[in-house]
Amino acid sequence: MDIIDAIYGRFSARAYKPRAIPKETLMKIFEAAVRTPSWADSQPWEVYLAAGATLDKLRNANLELFKSGAPRAFEVPGPAKWPDDAQGRIERNMGERLRELGLDREDKAGRQKLVEGNFRFFNAPAVAFLCMDKTLSSWSSFDMGAFSYGLMLAAMEFGVDSVPAVMMVSYPDLVRETLKIPANLTILFAVALGYQDDADPLNKFRSVRRPADEVVHLFGV
Ligand SMILES: Cc1cc2nc3c(=O)[nH]c(=O)nc-3n(C[C@H](O)[C@H](O)[C@H](O)COP(=O)(O)O)c2cc1C
Repeated sequence: MDIIDAIYGRFSARAYKPRAIPKETLMKIFEAAVRTPSWADSQPWEVYLAAGATLDKLRNANLELFKSGAPRAFEVPGPAKWPDDAQGRIERNMGERLRELGLDREDKAGRQKLVEGNFRFFNAPAVAFLCMDKTLSSWSSFDMGAFSYGLMLAAMEFGVDSVPAVMMVSYPDLVRETLKIPANLTILFAVALGYQDDADPLNKFRSVRRPADEVVHLFGV
């Protein structure tokens, strides 16, 4: 697959067909993902992947915690407050997603259903939990982000779609216990993998981006 086609074709798929990803395909994807560059080749990534019966069990328990209203506790906190311009983009993205789905902003039940999708792991057949050693700094989080993008683009070569989602790690203790993740690792976020269901309205939305000439400040070009 052409790299530019992959970059433009990728999107966050939030509904999947009930079709397992063969182990060989998963390993080919991760063999490509581990080619990601990192600070001094430190390769901080540790991946705990759940599929099959393990994921079903985790999904059910995660959903139960969500429905019980258990407090969510990411291991890596988000910003106390988003800067205004980022906040504006977040709201615009959500507004456009809701509009695409025919949902009203005031439709609390509809919005809650969307949030719940995260806790079902979007019904994906595989979820990769991305972890790194607790003593590492935000430089290694940068490496982890790059790893996740390499992973998502490599997946496309094998017809596998994805969505990265921090909400999938709202209950890290459950994930840690189920997948026996050692105490020295932080669970940063997760990437759901699978074959997107293109008949599902959840997969119709395509996000927009700031134009490159607004982002890039050119000098001497
Ligand atoms: C670190 C990270 C965390 C994210 N967390 C969530 C999440 O919790 N739930 C969700 O539905 N999408 C999540 N996303 C997906 C973004 O919403 C999505 O990438 C963004 O809206 C752009 O859309 P696109 O991926 O379709 O291009 C996350 C993405 C990243 C990179």
